[in-house]
Amino acid sequence: MSTTPTPHISANPGDFAKTVLMPGDPLRAKYIAETYLEDAVLVNNVRGVNGYTGTYHGKKVSVMASGMGMPSMGIYSYELFKFYDVDNIIRIGTAGAMHPDLKIRDVVIGMGACTDSNFAAQYRLPGTFAPIASYELLQKAVDAVKAMGSVRYKVGNIVSSDVFYSDNPDAMAAWQKMGVLACEMEAAGLYMNAARTGKNALAICTISDSLVTGEVTTSEERQSSFHDMMKIALEIA
Ligand code: HPA
Repeated sequence: MSTTPTPHISANPGDFAKTVLMPGDPLRAKYIAETYLEDAVLVNNVRGVNGYTGTYHGKKVSVMASGMGMPSMGIYSYELFKFYDVDNIIRIGTAGAMHPDLKIRDVVIGMGACTDSNFAAQYRLPGTFAPIASYELLQKAVDAVKAMGSVRYKVGNIVSSDVFYSDNPDAMAAWQKMGVLACEMEAAGLYMNAARTGKNALAICTISDSLVTGEVTTSEERQSSFHDMMKIALEIA
């Protein structure tokens, strides 16, 4: 057991809630804390990775950025699960649509997260690991999004890639053939850390661009769809 503070988080034991929401962007974490949480206190600011703890409808909730990509998500989620006694991490981020029925602003809940990353090699498994969401968090998220009524959503496989600017023009088409709904860059690393530490994780993504149609979101659209995703995450926190 490492002691706290950790190499990347300066908080004290007990500073984080049992559930941490993780956007990629530190400024998003700050916005969430200021907009949705009551009595939010800054508990981490190492490398400008803002972490806050406050309450939402009386529940203690934390929010901290993951940074971009699985190495960054891997560090923060591992330290939260392992050294800060966090039980649930809910990634809230953007994703690129790969399924023709998905429109900009739709919500995708990642039941599984495929990956082109070598993250799982560390476990020395005699086969291929299938990173999956916590069934309990997934079920709660589906219940919450259904209750909201007006939110367009899909639940299924996403792909977490190490590469944003790929040199392989066929890579996305290959994932699409397997029914993968959307791409992002963090969920698989999060799901593997949750599996290894016996904790719970879920990725809820808003479609910010489409690899099918080439559409991108305006900042206005991003803001309102972001609110839907936040509401789902806060409901289940
Ligand atoms: N690729 C990877 N991550 C993303 C994308 C994408 O097209 N859009 C939003 N996050």
